[in-house]
Amino acid sequence: MIVCVCKSVSDRKIRASIAEGVDTFDELQFELGVAMCCGKCEESVRDVMAQSGVCASQCGVEQREHVAPLMFYERKAA
Ligand code: FES
Repeated sequence: MIVCVCKSVSDRKIRASIAEGVDTFDELQFELGVAMCCGKCEESVRDVMAQSGVCASQCGVEQREHVAPLMFYERKAA
């Protein structure tokens, strides 16, 4: 599923980067360009990070189990 529409970054790509050692939001921005354009994907990116086990102190989101990240357009509709 595409998380960052502006940069066409999927949750799979974010998880692959985390598996390769990326463990901060800033590093993900540098590596993948997420949240660098409109910025509407930031919360979804942080959700994926939290679900991938990145510490809340680094990604800013408490880890939740089995919660699929909402896309920014889904958040507006809710
Ligand atoms: S959706 Fe990620 S920067 Fe716009």
